[in-house]
Amino acid sequence: MSGHNVWTHKGTFLLAAVGSAVGLGNLWRFPYLTGENGGGAFILIYALTIFAVGIPILIAETMLGRTSRQSPIMGMRHLTKTHKTSRAWESIGWLGAASAFLILSFYSVIAGWALHYTWLMLTGSLVGADAATISAGFDALLASPGLMTLYHTLFIAFSALIVGMGIHKGIESGLRIMMPALFVILIVVLIYGVINGDVRAAASFLFTFNIADLSLEGWLQAMGQSFFTLSLGMGAIMAYGAYMSSEASLTRTAIAVAFVDTAVAMVAGLAIFSLVFGAGLETGQGPGLMFVTLPLAFADMPFGALVGGVFFILVLGAAISSSISLIEPVAAFLVERFDMTRPQAVTIMVVAAWAMGLLTVVSFNIWAEGTIFHALFGRSAFEFIELLTNIFMPLGGLMIALFAGWALTQSEVMKELGTNITWFKTWRFLVRFVGPAAVSFVFLRTIPQVEGYVVPTLGALLIVGVFALSQRLRKSA
Ligand code: TRP
Repeated sequence: MSGHNVWTHKGTFLLAAVGSAVGLGNLWRFPYLTGENGGGAFILIYALTIFAVGIPILIAETMLGRTSRQSPIMGMRHLTKTHKTSRAWESIGWLGAASAFLILSFYSVIAGWALHYTWLMLTGSLVGADAATISAGFDALLASPGLMTLYHTLFIAFSALIVGMGIHKGIESGLRIMMPALFVILIVVLIYGVINGDVRAAASFLFTFNIADLSLEGWLQAMGQSFFTLSLGMGAIMAYGAYMSSEASLTRTAIAVAFVDTAVAMVAGLAIFSLVFGAGLETGQGPGLMFVTLPLAFADMPFGALVGGVFFILVLGAAISSSISLIEPVAAFLVERFDMTRPQAVTIMVVAAWAMGLLTVVSFNIWAEGTIFHALFGRSAFEFIELLTNIFMPLGGLMIALFAGWALTQSEVMKELGTNITWFKTWRFLVRFVGPAAVSFVFLRTIPQVEGYVVPTLGALLIVGVFALSQRLRKSA
């Protein structure tokens, strides 16, 4: 047990997990992916994957944290011992730490853009601006390494401050203020969107299911997104699970997290597309949807500058509550393993991720082309880091599913889940078969994007890795 802390309230894990899950993924990525992939059909696949794959793996990951009551790396080490499985499963912890570090590095840079836009909105700089001006403004931001570094630094430092203050005074209190405020702001923006925008067009765009609209690529992106949005496969949920009350229900909590996360994505989508349709703008703008299309919509609306500012504060808050959950697993590991103080551990993690983030910063300007990353992988450093996390995240999820469903002593798993046998068997079927199958499917999307000789190398590594691990699976129920 290692004297690990537990959240102050039974419900705090839910708050923390929702804080982690609701982030740029819901407000920025989900709307633009939906926009690019034709709306309703994308959402249908997204929701199905959340339900059949996301929730079971969320339950598994939380359970791994709660039974071990340690940081992901130490916790996995502990479980491999107590359940007498191969030490190789410890790699779940290491993979998670690596993904958390990589994601934090670019997450903070993108969240920094929201900081810039909060400022632009609240100072009224964009009032009445036309499309050319607004998109030139976004390009100018991307072209400025200095400005981007400044915002990146502010954002990551603030997140570090919260985690550095500890799980009670920092994370819990921070979330207790931030999360309710975020929900209020979201509702305000929705109401504003309904009044000033075209909510009918938005609703019919989001909720008309026409499966023919969906390409295979879109199908796979929907599955990948459902993974990303629940913060799965990288130890963040495991780290928070380690502080979860033993009395809280794993299954009910996981369902609640998934439900709230999905609801936020839908409400955000409804609000954003109401504004976009209301202003007669394009839905398929890609990543620029939030930073170009939306500011354009606000530029011409009554109180647009104010509501736009409030909207970007929402984006910032959601990003902070996610980024603290990226810092926590690594910081907790450094504290446990090397006896550091929490501020020391947080500093090390954050300074390293900050430096790594500079690679993302320059990927949009001075290193936009002609670097070693382009030569080796045919993409910028940022795109390469993102690709790595797109591989690590499902890989982590896959291994968590296999570990929980096959390797752990199943009688103990059932005790920890605390459900009846039917639910247990349903859950286990999903993590044993459905999850791994679905995740492997998502993988196939990622691999062919890697150019040149990297394809066979990565592919072979992957096959060998999965094979080696499965050789060591131990059935014990
Ligand atoms: N779920 C977060 C979002 O929707 C993004 C994310 C993915 C994340 N994995 C994570 C956040 C791990 C924290 C921890 O924006």
